[in-house]
Amino acid sequence: MQRIRVFDTTLRDGEQSPGVALNAQEKLEIALQLARLNVDVIEAGFPIASPGDAEGVKLVADNVKGRAVCALARAKDKDIDIAWECLKNAEHPIIHTFIATSDIHLRHKLRLSREEALEQAVWAVKRAKKYVADVEFSAEDATRSDWEYLSRVYAAVIEAGATIINVPDTVGYITPFEMQELIKYLLENTRGIEKVVLSVHCHNDLGLATANSLAAILAGAGQVECTVNGIGERAGNAALEEIAMSLYVRRDFFQAETNLNFQEIYRTSRLVSQRTGMLVQPNKAIVGQNAFAHESGIHQDGVLKEKLTYEIMDAKLIGREDRVLVLGKHSGRHAFAKKIEELGYKLSEEELNQAFQRFKQLADQKKEITEDDLKAIVSEEVAKPEEIYHLDFVHVCCGNNILPTATVRLVKDGKEVLEGVATGVGPVDAAYKAISKMLGISSNLVNYTLQSITGGTEALGEVIVRILDGDEEYIGRGSSQDVVVASVMAYLSAINRMAQRKRKLNPQKDYGES
Ligand code: KIV
Ligand code: ZN
Repeated sequence: MQRIRVFDTTLRDGEQSPGVALNAQEKLEIALQLARLNVDVIEAGFPIASPGDAEGVKLVADNVKGRAVCALARAKDKDIDIAWECLKNAEHPIIHTFIATSDIHLRHKLRLSREEALEQAVWAVKRAKKYVADVEFSAEDATRSDWEYLSRVYAAVIEAGATIINVPDTVGYITPFEMQELIKYLLENTRGIEKVVLSVHCHNDLGLATANSLAAILAGAGQVECTVNGIGERAGNAALEEIAMSLYVRRDFFQAETNLNFQEIYRTSRLVSQRTGMLVQPNKAIVGQNAFAHESGIHQDGVLKEKLTYEIMDAKLIGREDRVLVLGKHSGRHAFAKKIEELGYKLSEEELNQAFQRFKQLADQKKEITEDDLKAIVSEEVAKPEEIYHLDFVHVCCGNNILPTATVRLVKDGKEVLEGVATGVGPVDAAYKAISKMLGISSNLVNYTLQSITGGTEALGEVIVRILDGDEEYIGRGSSQDVVVASVMAYLSAINRMAQRKRKLNPQKDYGES
């Protein structure tokens, strides 16, 4: 079996998805989960892009051990120097530098000749090599570059010290057949290529990212770059879970394997979806809500007789165990703590107490508490922003032939009581308007999504919202059996994040007091 390295770029290319902005703590939380998933490399960000991104890379490099941590840098001195500054404390740092090589990019974007780009690439690798032993070089838009020139650039950067050579399909243009040919060509024609890791990085503009990555592996690539849930620029990147499970389920064909801990796939998918606010489409392979659901009678009948009839993998393999009753209304704190530990969470005493309280509330209303319910509760308690505004109560009046009206009461900093009333086009709109009015903010809601965590009318509803304040975006999340309450909790958690940040920037001026 050929061993394939998994280079995860959820925190870098994935974070480049429109509307996604992870703060440093959220990056660290996801990076720790990626370490549990056992990816080989975590690309933590693009430090020159913003101070926040640099902070995130540094936090990941300082705290995630036993894993290579990588930072992206254009072929420019400042980019490379700041990447190193952030990676300094990493156990295994990698600087990933890149420059475009296609004529389209050289002519229209960089205004460089082929030779100038080649020289800059060599220069950048040499500069990065002064700092770290492992340097990855990417030829941006490689798949639309001239093959002979591409191979010359790769040979030159290998000579300059690059240890990983990446072939990005930047615009998702290539087909699997061509990808196989390109990788074979590079392996046969690039001087020094046998000494380095050959990697691919595929985008999904034509829905071919996973197929192209697998084609590259068949042709001899040793590393795949991918993101959890396939998030990323435009149509996204190759999905980690799709590549991993294709290699596993069809190991007879690919004769290749990753080192991933499959049991962590589903939890990682949920965490990435929650923190980025990017919902996973229900029919998404491997991690979508319907990926293991059988609707038609013929299929259900077959699966009941023998799972193999319609299932090519076991949901349990990737850590999915929907609709499994794990705890009930009579379970005590001890059993709850044990189950949480079994699920792999390490909570502080206070987090555990709060999660237990939420569990008890839910158990009073819902007969069956599943592992997914528990994961939702824990993820909410752990990621909760420090509360400036606490929801005391929300009351809505709605129905047909009635103007939806909401009354909301908040407690600010544990003492000051604020109340607001508003009408809206629906109960959520009314509640959001009541909050915005009482806090004196013009609510700039850019995204609102609602989904149920488990099935049935008594399921937990999960709401994720994104609000915009100037250039800053804040994500909030809430879950409850009552969708209006979940919506208000999500909105308040985004507002708390915004208020915390404003208070940090300007402690004198308080926020939202009108
Ligand atoms: O898609 C791309 O070309 C990239 C490179 C920076 C690797 O993300
Ligand atoms: Zn990319």
